[in-house]
Amino acid sequence: MIASDCLQKLKSIGEEKLLIDFESLNDADKKTLLKDIENLDLDVLKEQKRILRTRNDAQAQINFKPIKNPYQSPNQSFEDKGKELISKGLVGCLVVAGGQGTRLKFDHPKGLFPVTPVLKKSLFQLLSEKVLKASDQAKEKLPLAIMTSSINEEETKQFFKENRFFGMEEKDLDFFTQPNLPVLDNQGSLFLESKCKIAKAPDGNGSSLQALYKSCVFSKWKQRGIRYLLFILIDNPLADPFDKELVGMAAELKSDVTIKCVQRIDPDEKVGVFIQDQDKTKVVEYSEFPKNLYEAKVNGAFLFPYANISYFCFDLNFIESLANITLPMHLAFKSVPIYSREKEAIVISKEPFAWKFEKFIFDVLPYAKVDLLLEERKFCYSPLKNKEGNASLKTVQEDLMALDKIKIESVTETKAPDIQPFEVDPAFYYPTSELKKKWHKRSIPLKAYISARD
Ligand code: UTP
Repeated sequence: MIASDCLQKLKSIGEEKLLIDFESLNDADKKTLLKDIENLDLDVLKEQKRILRTRNDAQAQINFKPIKNPYQSPNQSFEDKGKELISKGLVGCLVVAGGQGTRLKFDHPKGLFPVTPVLKKSLFQLLSEKVLKASDQAKEKLPLAIMTSSINEEETKQFFKENRFFGMEEKDLDFFTQPNLPVLDNQGSLFLESKCKIAKAPDGNGSSLQALYKSCVFSKWKQRGIRYLLFILIDNPLADPFDKELVGMAAELKSDVTIKCVQRIDPDEKVGVFIQDQDKTKVVEYSEFPKNLYEAKVNGAFLFPYANISYFCFDLNFIESLANITLPMHLAFKSVPIYSREKEAIVISKEPFAWKFEKFIFDVLPYAKVDLLLEERKFCYSPLKNKEGNASLKTVQEDLMALDKIKIESVTETKAPDIQPFEVDPAFYYPTSELKKKWHKRSIPLKAYISARD
């Protein structure tokens, strides 16, 4: 697009100020800015502006009813079925890792964050090793796809490359990138995040299934025979990328989506909560939940007791059926980089000043046959969100150590030493028959790190 066409396009939406300093840019920057303007989807932008304008209007009525009787973990029959499906190579894992991780205040993609208590393995390393150990157990190479965003794609891929993909084979590891959406200021206008780039941010993890479908990974997996997809977050190191129970449940119940959920523990915990709205199982974010209902208790227990931890198994046919569905956008008021004309530099204020638009994965649930599985937190959920306090490195490491002990004790049937820090080889999470034979009834060495090869 040439400059005059771009100006016309911007004028049609009252955003021509984006070109105010255009003539002072060098040729490369001019080209970048024009490309950015050319790529603006005006229909989407109009919808964003509408959402922002009407954010305080009355929301559509939701019929808030509690979920009754989710399935309970452990369930041996689901587990057996899942084991069979995984060992037949019918399951893949999608990890979403495109977020900005602003609360963690870590200057790199969150997946690079060192989390394990002794060997300080990063989230990506721990995940990759779990996939490899699950493959050993299943005697089948299991595939992993990682969703990144344009802001962390390069660094993520470079990290894997430098670490030789943590031993994963190229054919079993794929990356794809999620889309961005423009960010709007408090007046509902576009602005520049650098001299020549319109401010944009990743569009939320809800776009992952459609982005996967559009990427070449989906057809590759289809050809490979994959039928079920486990969806987990990179910042939950307790998640099992090949969760047998959840996959088996999807197959046994013929669900479009099976979901692991946990009990809410604290009225101040900011989580999405499951509700039953007519015949649909849905999640409503804490920010969109009526406060009195969010906190309501009956006989000391929450009226709405089940928290969403974004831990799902999707049937691949269901993902295909979502291809042409438009998911709603949710608003978040955040601080993002902005280009200051006065300072001629990119600045990041501490205070939030701009609106990000995000799609949430749980908004696909109204289109699905959904079944819930209730699991204890210590087995499946410990998110890394904050630099300090709750959901920080400290709490994650405590939870990792506790689960490591449970896993090694279940293999050895002996007591783990009462020492800290403590860490075990992820092989203990996916014990093969050889490992079981070697370790059964063996006393666990008094060491901080236990390798399966010890
Ligand atoms: P969060 O919503 O907790 O966001 O993401 P975040 O980016 O990690 O952290 P904050 O809110 O900026 O502090 C939950 C999961 O969804 C992924 C994240 O990488 C994380 O695994 N995610 C989030 C995406 O993949 N894309 C997004 O656009 C947003």
